Amino acid sequence: MLSPSRRVAVLVSGGGTNLQAILDARGSVIRHAEIVLVVSNKPGAYALERAARAGIPALTLSAKELGGMEAFEHALQRALEEYRIDLIVLAGFLTILSEDFTRRWDHRILNIHPSLIPAFCGRDYYGLRVHEAALARGVKLTGATVHFVNEIPDGGEILLQKAVEVLPGDSPETLQRRVMEQAEWILLPRAIEMVAVEGITQEERSNQ
Ligand code: GRF
Repeated sequence: MLSPSRRVAVLVSGGGTNLQAILDARGSVIRHAEIVLVVSNKPGAYALERAARAGIPALTLSAKELGGMEAFEHALQRALEEYRIDLIVLAGFLTILSEDFTRRWDHRILNIHPSLIPAFCGRDYYGLRVHEAALARGVKLTGATVHFVNEIPDGGEILLQKAVEVLPGDSPETLQRRVMEQAEWILLPRAIEMVAVEGITQEERSNQ
């Protein structure tokens, strides 16, 4: 990586399709960030396979095994410091981080949410539940949102959004897939590059 780059950790819990989109965007959409660490809170998450295939160092930190969320966040913080992380990306990461943690990493944690926030978001809206709620409400447009993470679930400043049509006959599964393909996997790499460039630009300004 010739140009200055931001060191990024991606936090995952599941299949890792958003992680894969990020990995596939390296060198094209993502040119000012390096994915240097993957952390899963779920042992055996398929996202870990994806990290291994890409040769990215990966850790599994289980709150259950560590004895609770406080121990989990301490272990996470140590790993982030060891890898000199600049930016954290939550990609299908299903744990709510504490206010203390999100304040420490203010404007340095991104999350992808599979709806157009403020619709269908907050503590109980994740995964398929988001699309079940969109179908139940009968919306004709849904989509995805990338936002900074604060102490309010899905409550941080919105960075990017992209709308996706709901089609007649959609099931939660078909809608989820379309939102991933047409929105999530496009927005998250773009947001990482945006935030990385902004961070580098600010650093260069402050060094002048
Ligand atoms: C998807 O529903 C995505 O919208 C949300 O987390 C779920 C799994 O994502 N962010 P991934 O395939 O693990 O990236």
